[in-house]
Amino acid sequence: MTPSDPPFPTRRAAREEAERRATAAIAIARPEAGRRRSTFEEPGLDAEEPPRDERGPEVPADERGTEPAPLPSRRARREGPRTDLRALVLRRRLAVAAVGAVVIAACAIAVGAAASAGGQDATGQANAAGPEAVASVQGPPAVPAEGLPVPTLAAAPAAATPCDNPTFTAALAAKDDGAAIAAAGGGAAFRDAVASGIAPCVSLNDPTHQWVVVNKQRPYDPVDWRPDDLVMPDGVRALEQSAMRSSAAKALTTLVRAADDAGAGEIGYLSAFRSYATQQETYAGRVAVGGVAAADRESARAGFSEHQSGLAVDIVPCRSSCGSLDDIAGSSQGAWVRDHAWEYGFIVRYVNGQESVSGYEPEAWHLRYIGPELAQAYHDGGYETLEAFFNLPAAPGY
Ligand code: DAL
Ligand code: ZN
Repeated sequence: MTPSDPPFPTRRAAREEAERRATAAIAIARPEAGRRRSTFEEPGLDAEEPPRDERGPEVPADERGTEPAPLPSRRARREGPRTDLRALVLRRRLAVAAVGAVVIAACAIAVGAAASAGGQDATGQANAAGPEAVASVQGPPAVPAEGLPVPTLAAAPAAATPCDNPTFTAALAAKDDGAAIAAAGGGAAFRDAVASGIAPCVSLNDPTHQWVVVNKQRPYDPVDWRPDDLVMPDGVRALEQSAMRSSAAKALTTLVRAADDAGAGEIGYLSAFRSYATQQETYAGRVAVGGVAAADRESARAGFSEHQSGLAVDIVPCRSSCGSLDDIAGSSQGAWVRDHAWEYGFIVRYVNGQESVSGYEPEAWHLRYIGPELAQAYHDGGYETLEAFFNLPAAPGY
């Protein structure tokens, strides 16, 4: 308090007078009895209740009349007569804002009602469901007395497997590999099923099927197994009396004729089926020349050679006479075979860069028959080993 300040009773009286004058100067109508005040009609700038010592004297109930006088703003009450004009301006602004809010709310209600009546959604687009659709989103659906249904997880359907297909299993039993692959949906589908493990009825160990995989980790069982349908290929120059399984022999005949027709030159072969005993001699001969380690990179031990299946053949290029195995890679015949063997059901089994998987150095001459359907899938998929094709482990050693 400064020396010029009037004593408290005088200041309170002045403030009450200022409140009275400010209230009387407000031109807006007082709220009607029973009407709820909007937020804009709340007293003062702040919604909070002023402190008890700023509310002025308590008025007995019988002296208040039926309507309480609007309370002045807290700032007006705090600053007294000096702020009458500012309080008046502020109240007018509040009043204008309140009227504006009422108008805006009324417009919004009117627009919403019109939209509902016209069957339109909030974007103004046609709402085919009409007012019912609007009503349907006005609240959550009622909960039935028995409660809401509890969701349950249905068992995931098992992946389709050709092993559940009677046509497929019948073809398997009949050793009709082409029919089985067709029943599985083709070469790629068959491969996918086998490689993914969903076709346990297909054995990659069974040498009676063209999809058998033989490598250093996959010997024959029995180890001296031999096929019973060996024949000599028609129209192919054989440097040894070495037969093939009938399906492979027919395919080789077709391949050799196609290569010749294409101008690639004559293809002959040196060795096809080799029995367990013959493979023993072949492997022993390689060991004698270069030792076990070198032999194991180019020759299979007995019981582990694809030649024992009757599905493999070592080709050579021929003109008047035939060249050696090593001559095939640089020959026109070798080039044609690399590009077209798959069309006749053969793959070049041991290629560059795959010794760590197949177990053998590249052999451009060693063709393996797997049937035209699987050979196409092998070619189309860009595979370089049968191990990768069927998703089998690498077999670099015994
Ligand atoms: N030359 C191949 C790897 C074999 O002996 O079967
Ligand atoms: Zn071979």
